[in-house]
Amino acid sequence: MIRPFIAGNWKMHKTIGEAVDFASRLRKALAEPLEADVVIAPPFTALYAVAEALRGSEIHICAQNLHEDVSGRGAYTGEVSAPMLADVGCEYVIIGHSERRTLFGEKNGVIVKKIRTALKFGLKAILCIGETLNERDQGKTFTVVERQIKNGLSNFIVDDIKNVVIAYEPVWAIGTGKTATPEQAGEVHAFIRHTMEKYSGKDISRCLAIIYGGSVSPDNIRDLMAQRDINGALVGGASLEIESFIRIVKFT
Ligand code: 13P
Repeated sequence: MIRPFIAGNWKMHKTIGEAVDFASRLRKALAEPLEADVVIAPPFTALYAVAEALRGSEIHICAQNLHEDVSGRGAYTGEVSAPMLADVGCEYVIIGHSERRTLFGEKNGVIVKKIRTALKFGLKAILCIGETLNERDQGKTFTVVERQIKNGLSNFIVDDIKNVVIAYEPVWAIGTGKTATPEQAGEVHAFIRHTMEKYSGKDISRCLAIIYGGSVSPDNIRDLMAQRDINGALVGGASLEIESFIRIVKFT
């Protein structure tokens, strides 16, 4: 049984004050030990303050991006390195989000480097994959997803993959209110697990957390989680409101 994994991706939202207020209220609302891995991904500016507010709790901190340089430093104005993120209290980092791929031109080459650098500095990677509406309409969902897995993960050894979570986020379902039906999502998750078995073996594919993202809400989380191969959620909009995020975390 894979432990449920619920992550909130705040994207470019919340000041430090708002972020700390959310984190403190979340901590109070969740009785430990938690029944799921609960992760929040504030913007860079709020990471340290949120990590302090959650120190000693079971809630994990995640960054939304990192720079790929494997040395962890250098002349990259405006960028943030993996060791800086680890230093500030992050355990996870989101890599390959579709907004990074489409708005910031991130290609597979850089995504692989980011995974490698994150793992080198002890961060766990949440690798996002997913097809566009156009690709789905053309019946290319499985081809696209397999290519993203192959390009992203096929060169990593099993010990690396243990520190990876795969987030299936169909691009057409992000921020649109259009969720994939639980069956549509479940089908792709099963395919992802099967593909991971092909590249990395049965043992690792059986314990890999594969989470769904795209218009997840308190109203659809339970049906999504009822699918055998959906192990959790990467939540955008609905993770910004404390009540809705708590309802998602406590989906059972
Ligand atoms: P929404 O939940 O707002 O659709 O965003 C999903 C997402 O991109 C999480 O990374």
